[in-house]
Amino acid sequence: MPQRKTIADKVRCAVAQDIEAIFKNRFFTALHENAITLDGIKLFANEYFWASNGFPKILATACAGMSTDELRMPFVTNLWDEHGQGKSISSHRAMLGRFLEFLQIIPVNAVGGPADRYVAAMVALCRDATEAGLLGIIGPGCEAFTPREYRVIVRHLQNNFSIPDTALEFFLDHINHDHQHISALYNAFEVAVKDDNDLSDAIEGAKKAVAIEQQFWTDMHAHIMRDD
Ligand SMILES: [Fe+2]
Ligand SMILES: [Fe+2]
Repeated sequence: MPQRKTIADKVRCAVAQDIEAIFKNRFFTALHENAITLDGIKLFANEYFWASNGFPKILATACAGMSTDELRMPFVTNLWDEHGQGKSISSHRAMLGRFLEFLQIIPVNAVGGPADRYVAAMVALCRDATEAGLLGIIGPGCEAFTPREYRVIVRHLQNNFSIPDTALEFFLDHINHDHQHISALYNAFEVAVKDDNDLSDAIEGAKKAVAIEQQFWTDMHAHIMRDD
């Protein structure tokens, strides 16, 4: 007998095509074609540092929109992990900082750059969303495909620039651990989504977040090719 579709399955199916479009984006196409130089990687690293720096603000905004401990918990746990579970050396900023150190670059935040625009758009989206919408934004609209993005990025960095795993800790950590964040968010759908309105909020949130992600990579590509 076929298994009943979970709420998370329904939201994931609704955004599956949009997510595939991310991987056909110019940035990922350029990675596949080995068309990104080390200078381009340095520009990417700087921008990605600021996107990562803004992620706790996005998560905290989403967390603030949840009304119970049970629904806040996936966000609280996620924020705790973002901050190295209390050890600042293991915070995700510290991990990504070690990638930048390896590349010998000092992070410089560009106002109006791809990361700045991404963080502002995601925070604004989270401020206006319902609980179901917030789960759609951070779950299928964000965490669900990040490890896949990182697998493509890591393969490129290892193959073309022989960057050692010690410098890739940020990406490898997410590849290995993000499934825990994803399943906690997916379980929360069963609590937050009570009717069809909630379900459409969740799908709409996920779709809008994926559209912001697509724009981020389009902007990133223009930025690293220096035509933004
Ligand atoms: Fe992270
Ligand atoms: Fe995560």
